[in-house]
Amino acid sequence: MSSTLRCPVCKELLASTPDGACCASGHRFDRARQGYLNLLPVHKKRSANPGDSTEMVQARSRFLDTGLYNTPATALEKKASLCLQSAASKDMNVPVIVDAGCGEGYYTVRLGQYIADASITGFDISRPAIQSCCRRSREADAKAQWLVASVADIPLTDDSTNLIVSVFSRIDWHEFGRILKANGHILVLGPGPDHLLELRQQIYDDVRSYPEDKLLTQIPEPFKLVSHETITDTLTLESAEAILDLLAMTPHYWHIKPSQKEKLEQLNRLQCRLDMRLYTIIYQP
Ligand SMILES: C[S@@+](CC[C@H](N)C(=O)[O-])C[C@H]1O[C@@H](n2cnc3c(N)ncnc32)[C@H](O)[C@@H]1O
Ligand SMILES: [Zn+2]
Repeated sequence: MSSTLRCPVCKELLASTPDGACCASGHRFDRARQGYLNLLPVHKKRSANPGDSTEMVQARSRFLDTGLYNTPATALEKKASLCLQSAASKDMNVPVIVDAGCGEGYYTVRLGQYIADASITGFDISRPAIQSCCRRSREADAKAQWLVASVADIPLTDDSTNLIVSVFSRIDWHEFGRILKANGHILVLGPGPDHLLELRQQIYDDVRSYPEDKLLTQIPEPFKLVSHETITDTLTLESAEAILDLLAMTPHYWHIKPSQKEKLEQLNRLQCRLDMRLYTIIYQP
């Protein structure tokens, strides 16, 4: 079973067809040969190729496949399972999980394997990212529904989702509230003040800590913070490739000066701290 889709053009229900999906008004969306649906209307695109590029997606996949982010992925799996258990006594349906801005699908596939009885959808605005998701789930023999779509206009029906996961991605409170069931949860994984401090020290002369708990001041009604946890680890990067792949996963990729990038390319080893925050938020309209 998959999440219920809505048409990105007229917002009516989308029904499955042998080669994709279609609404009652006749808007048709073909399934790509890799298996995903593109539900991002052309007129909603701000650029020809929005979101992460192929190069960034490949760097992210290579990095995540090293297992260096296993600690946050495990914390996310455990917390997701707890969130669904807390709601299970009231809702007998198959739990629906949505990974919003899922990138190349590392966390999505892991969540789908950890919580085997759930229906899981991953979407991202980047087509190369979603193509990688299809490859990842095929290789892992994991089931998931993959969509090219934006968090600003999620092509899923109202009141349909038990849990939204947002890992280093954009949050759209209005859209998240629309698709969540009452007492559904959002898990947000983001940077703590000292995340990748040593990498940043290699890039900038003046390194500032990120503001602590910026998200906490932004949570609007009727969302409520249930808990926030600190996740720390030490990353030992043992090749220039791993260091540059990690760089490509961060906003610093865009800000680094060529001279500093050259300096980074000469490094073969870097020990770096992982400092993340995992926020559990409940939707109580
Ligand atoms: C920092 S990456 C995180 C990806 C993934 N969650 C992970 O941690 O591996 C942010 C992702 O958000 C996507 N993105 C950017 N704007 C978006 C939007 N409006 N809607 C959906 N995804 C978006 C990018 O393409 C990129 O894959
Ligand atoms: Zn339609």
